[in-house]
Amino acid sequence: MCGIIAAASSRNVGKLLVQGLHRMEYRGYDSAGIALHQDEGVVHLRTLGKVKLLEEKMIQEKPRSKLGIAHTRWATHGEPSEINAHPHKSSERIYIVHNGIIENHVELKKELEEKGYAFTSQTDSELIAHLIELYLQDSSSFIDAIYKAKKRLEGAYAIAVLDYQDPNSIVVARHKSPLLIGLGTDENLAASDPLAIAQLTNEFIFLEDGDVARISSDSYEIFDTNQASVQRAITKLDITSQATSKGDYRHFMEKEIYEQPEAILNTIDGRVGAEDVLDNIFGLNSNELFSKVERIQIAACGTSLHAGRVAANWLSSIAGLPCQIDYASEYRYRNPYVDKNSLFITISQSGETADTLAALSYAKEQEYLATVGICNVPTSTLARESDFVLFTNAGPEIGVASTKAFTTQLAGLLLLTLSLAKARGLNPKLRTRVVEALRTLPEVIRDALKLKDQIIEMAPGVASKDNSLFLGRGIFYPVAKEGALKLKEISYIHAEAYPAGELKHGPLALIDEDMPVIALAPESEIAEKLISNLEEVKARGGKLYVFADPSVTMDVKAGRLIHLPKCDFLLTPIVYTIPLQILAYEVALLRGTDIDQPRNLAKSVTVE
Ligand code: G6P
Repeated sequence: MCGIIAAASSRNVGKLLVQGLHRMEYRGYDSAGIALHQDEGVVHLRTLGKVKLLEEKMIQEKPRSKLGIAHTRWATHGEPSEINAHPHKSSERIYIVHNGIIENHVELKKELEEKGYAFTSQTDSELIAHLIELYLQDSSSFIDAIYKAKKRLEGAYAIAVLDYQDPNSIVVARHKSPLLIGLGTDENLAASDPLAIAQLTNEFIFLEDGDVARISSDSYEIFDTNQASVQRAITKLDITSQATSKGDYRHFMEKEIYEQPEAILNTIDGRVGAEDVLDNIFGLNSNELFSKVERIQIAACGTSLHAGRVAANWLSSIAGLPCQIDYASEYRYRNPYVDKNSLFITISQSGETADTLAALSYAKEQEYLATVGICNVPTSTLARESDFVLFTNAGPEIGVASTKAFTTQLAGLLLLTLSLAKARGLNPKLRTRVVEALRTLPEVIRDALKLKDQIIEMAPGVASKDNSLFLGRGIFYPVAKEGALKLKEISYIHAEAYPAGELKHGPLALIDEDMPVIALAPESEIAEKLISNLEEVKARGGKLYVFADPSVTMDVKAGRLIHLPKCDFLLTPIVYTIPLQILAYEVALLRGTDIDQPRNLAKSVTVE
């Protein structure tokens, strides 16, 4: 998704703005641009494609400027092109960068065109620049004009504005899209993502919805929704360069896969005792509230939704709670009936996914007991807006395809299940069993990562095909879905997941030698049934790749049977995810795709 960075400094800012854009590349984008203030006019450069190309333009132009704004764009309105790339301008005076969507852009554009403003792009963003210029004509100050323009905008936005007539400051505004200020030495910054400016400062101010701020090199001022000057808390955050560099790994995704033992340890650390989950790990009084819960509703997107689907099994079998799960984007459109004593749960790596936030804000209007978030980013909107939160503590996840965020979400959801079971006085022995298994999980994952060489051997069989089928049963069906999602996201191979029992109701028609079938066969009552389903595949010439418990033996002919390390059955969904991530990664490597930034995808989807 789009990324914003702005700087007001006592030194040249061109390079630091472009470096900031590089650090936001992981979010996914299709074009980039920059506007830099110079006395003789604003330097305005844009490129279609990678930030590297913008950097090359900068090297040719050699701008010198202490004030600027820059942007990476992920197209929503208007194709990816140089013309549609930000910054957009009004005359040669107002330059803006925008994240989000302006929902009433059609009527505003018409109104502005009637007033004589000419549009050069197909975006919903350009009108913001014209609107500001329009209101500047009868405003007492620049900030006043921003507030007048803001009143007209419907939708979501984070914007940064550069005014050619003001050589000292940038004005930023936030409404339902993340935006923060970074306090540097002889410079102040603004960005949509703390990673963009993490090399420059560890002091951040997270703006609130409705806030407008003005930053210059030696000062800043923040105004609230009512245009009153306000103080906002300064948060100290150490986002080390180690967390944001690949180290010896080829891709962030690879690094994040191999970081999982430690990430899981960080999720459970300080949250479980010798025999049970600790009290109130979701926040003060969460235990008391959890004791009243009779029903669960989960809403999430993408990989986070798959984590929710796995957790639904745990919630019902360990905490005795019925659980309904929805795509966050669909939840509020089905007029959900809210039973009494229901708990609303969102799961989100970024805590900024627009659909998940919209579901949460809808749920807050309903009769839920409370809202609970499972989230990786403590400073996110979701973290702020939920009644109770558990942070997964996975560290920054940069690869667009989610890996360590998923397994740590699962660990966090197990902690939630245990907390609910404990508050309801259920299954003490089972709780101890799960806690003990959780403690050994990092080691089991380490062993699962050692399967890499076997997976590298099987990868060409999948990489050479255009389709694939993933099979699992019960709690392994959502794990199969996650495996299919990983493969399609980064290798562009069509991948579908099915509960194995459904095979004969349709997908069996697709099976031939060009359809690799990847199956999950943990030891359980379902493994036996699954193996008969796999025989059906084998009999039709399908090539089988089976990840299985050491006790499972079967003839996979030219395919491959890979045994996974043993662990408690309840935790196997986490362990079986590991080889599927490695498989997707190794296949994508063979196909030479852009693994960390797959085409058309974004890390944090901040538009609905
Ligand atoms: C995007 C990302 C996925 C992620 C999903 C939900 O589609 O590419 O990796 O699972 O958003 O994101 P969240 O931050 O809410 O977990």
